[in-house]
Amino acid sequence: MNSTIEASALNAPTTSELKYSRTMADLPGPKGLPVLGSALDMTGRQWHLTLAKWIREFGPVFQVRVPGGAMVVIADRTTAGALLRERPEQFRRTGGLKTVMNELNISGVFTAEGDDWRRQRKLVMGGLNAEVIRNFFPKMSAMAERMLRRWKTALAEGRHVDLRRDLKAFALDVTVGLAMGHDIDVVNHDGSQLQHDVDNMFRRLGARSFALFPYWRHFKLPADREADQSAENIEQAVIGFIRNTRERMALQPELREKPTNMLEAMIAASDDPDSDFTDQDLISNAILSVIGGEDTTANSMAWMINLLAQHPAAAAALTYEADTVLGEEPLVRDWELMKQFNYIEAAHSETQRLRTVAPFIGIVANADCVVADTFFPKNTAFVVSTTAEGLDETQFPDNDVFQPERWIFDHRPQKEENPVRKLMPFGDGPRVCPGRFLAMTEIKLVLSMLMHNFELEFDTHAPPIQQVMNFFMGPSAVPVRLKLRSVPDQR
Ligand code: HEM
Repeated sequence: MNSTIEASALNAPTTSELKYSRTMADLPGPKGLPVLGSALDMTGRQWHLTLAKWIREFGPVFQVRVPGGAMVVIADRTTAGALLRERPEQFRRTGGLKTVMNELNISGVFTAEGDDWRRQRKLVMGGLNAEVIRNFFPKMSAMAERMLRRWKTALAEGRHVDLRRDLKAFALDVTVGLAMGHDIDVVNHDGSQLQHDVDNMFRRLGARSFALFPYWRHFKLPADREADQSAENIEQAVIGFIRNTRERMALQPELREKPTNMLEAMIAASDDPDSDFTDQDLISNAILSVIGGEDTTANSMAWMINLLAQHPAAAAALTYEADTVLGEEPLVRDWELMKQFNYIEAAHSETQRLRTVAPFIGIVANADCVVADTFFPKNTAFVVSTTAEGLDETQFPDNDVFQPERWIFDHRPQKEENPVRKLMPFGDGPRVCPGRFLAMTEIKLVLSMLMHNFELEFDTHAPPIQQVMNFFMGPSAVPVRLKLRSVPDQR
């Protein structure tokens, strides 16, 4: 397939100079219903599986008719990556998603475009860079340690550990701690107002993103009014956190040079007289980071645990790595050790291949363009698959088998052979996920702690685990019991 992208605004001065051999009408795709097209297949909690089925049926480029037009699915890595890399100039994020997010007061870098995006991206990257994560790491490790204590206490008292609940609580503790500088300890205390408000927003975001009709623009149900209230509560809480952080930074000016969390880093950047960051930028990006960082990371860990519990050889390999790196320590306290978890990284890649939490990215063309030898008019909506090639048997033989070893090599593979280049669970190009380093830090910290201290027992009588799309894709359950391991004396 010709995967080059030409766009009238970029590579050719006028649309008439674009070269292509087919148009959108020539593309294959599902038949759908009159008027509605395939819209009904694109709602519900499993539409990503429908898209995956269509990718197998219609190939890497096809169209899906929806009311008022069609959208184009791109599933080959080269073309998909090329499209994502042409942002923000040639493509923007899907308008519908942006509107739904903005209506819930979620904005910041994710929904920004053009120069506004460039400005906010700089702010967010400064808040999520490796140095800030390293400075925050002692707090993150302490958060993981209290989860470990909670699990040990539960087992000692003969109680069940609800892994799904605790992983979500941990991811929320970390993102609120990092992005807002506040420790809410949801792991140990249900019922925090902030947790309730974030959950509320997520539920509405999921429901509205996949709704067939935007009823809430005409009338509001109690759940919509509650979500509006939650949005207001979160904003007020963040304004309070910013005020507290500014006061603390006035007393400890060294925090400007060595910020211990994302909020301090963003405040230091915005107080720079040469910067043009506003308080609204701080507020919206702190809220966005919590929304963007909670379910993505928690769902990824939940899927990893589900897969490891069903694959004892992989679980044993991961346990071996955790034991080797941690020795007598119960979990990572020394940041330098974080580089040593190659098997966890491999297990994570394999998990994203089989159960990616963000399977598609929606973008819209800013200009007429040619993609894969096909002409697309300005404003064409594209749905870009992040991991489609991962499900291709020719590229990943024994495709549905969980095999982290596929990602481990004695020698660095050639560029085109390297499987890492075939998937992009964190997106690609200038808008690639700025939270990926934080996410991988959390995943390595928790998975090494888990496998070093516990054995996983999969409940073979549990109902099959469903893939559920709730804005991000997560498992319907984590039917895994923990059993304490006898490990060497721990400090
Ligand atoms: C395993 C965990 C995660 C996954 C799989 C994930 C995945 C993604 C994906 C696919 C995108 C779209 C990228 C693109 O358009 O090319 C994205 C964007 C983004 N993510 Fe993540 N993410 C994760 C964790 C996080 C965390 C922990 C944070 C922050 C605390 C975060 C913050 C963001 C933000 C702010 C954007 C928007 C970037 C922009 O538009 O410039 N993510 N993420």
